[in-house]
Amino acid sequence: MTLKFDEIGYWSQIKLDIIEKYASSYSLILSKWVNPSLHHIYVDAFAGAGEHILKNTQNRISGSPQRALAITPPFKEYYFIDINGEKVANLQKITLGREDVHILEGDCNKKLIEEVFPYIKYGDYRRGLCLLDPYGLDLRWEVIEKAGKMQSIEIFLNFPVMAMNRSVLWTKNTAGIGQSDIIRMNEFWGDDSWRDVAYSSTIDMFGDIHNNKESNKSIAMAFKDRLKCIAGFKNVSNPLPMRNSLNNIVYYLFFASQNDTGNKIVNDIFKKYRNQG
Ligand SMILES: C[S@@+](CC[C@H](N)C(=O)[O-])C[C@H]1O[C@@H](n2cnc3c(N)ncnc32)[C@H](O)[C@@H]1O
Repeated sequence: MTLKFDEIGYWSQIKLDIIEKYASSYSLILSKWVNPSLHHIYVDAFAGAGEHILKNTQNRISGSPQRALAITPPFKEYYFIDINGEKVANLQKITLGREDVHILEGDCNKKLIEEVFPYIKYGDYRRGLCLLDPYGLDLRWEVIEKAGKMQSIEIFLNFPVMAMNRSVLWTKNTAGIGQSDIIRMNEFWGDDSWRDVAYSSTIDMFGDIHNNKESNKSIAMAFKDRLKCIAGFKNVSNPLPMRNSLNNIVYYLFFASQNDTGNKIVNDIFKKYRNQG
């Protein structure tokens, strides 16, 4: 079977530009680090095929793995994970002969915890930049929390608010939501405290109770608090809303790290794109 490449929109291209810009700075800084020298690793957990088709032009465009591979100075190692066998085969094809690349097929939630993060220990002078870029609620909180606690890993995280709105946050309370969607939301969020964040109620002058759903921004900012307070990332930038052509927010791009310099660089990059609207 021939692989049909994913079609991506303009906002995905912006995301790719942002990650590439930061990954270039990160690799440059870490490559120059001495006493001790550091072994820096790029991890793409929802890697995709490595390349995509741009929706409006139908042109082939490099995805996050291909862009990471082109960065100079290079990372010392690359880990690419995808659950889709055809995408993994394409990743293998485009990285043929590169001994610094490890390609894993399967659920990244398991692979990261069991096979990748154990190789990025702070005490071993290893550092990782990890992209967590799911389409929907496929990521588990335990991965995020582990990355935060390890101190050696920084993350870009796609917070898929449109997928959340479609599957879970489409009503003004949890009545009517499918149990499997609730479980997936709990797994992404880490517990069921999103219920307290996502809904509020007001009482009008007649004593009637009205349920309300909170804004996307409130929900994203509550998740920012979790990244800091529970996962233990020292710095979490205000997330960048990524909008589609109808101006709806598809997801928020988060960056979380222990490092002040990295945080400053990403804030500067985010500022440029935020000002573009
Ligand atoms: C948004 S795409 C990744 C795009 C890529 N990061 C880029 O920018 O070029 C999400 C990918 O995650 C993969 N995926 C979905 N669930 C997964 C899981 N549990 N573990 C690993 N990969 C998964 C899908 O096959 C898909 O290729």
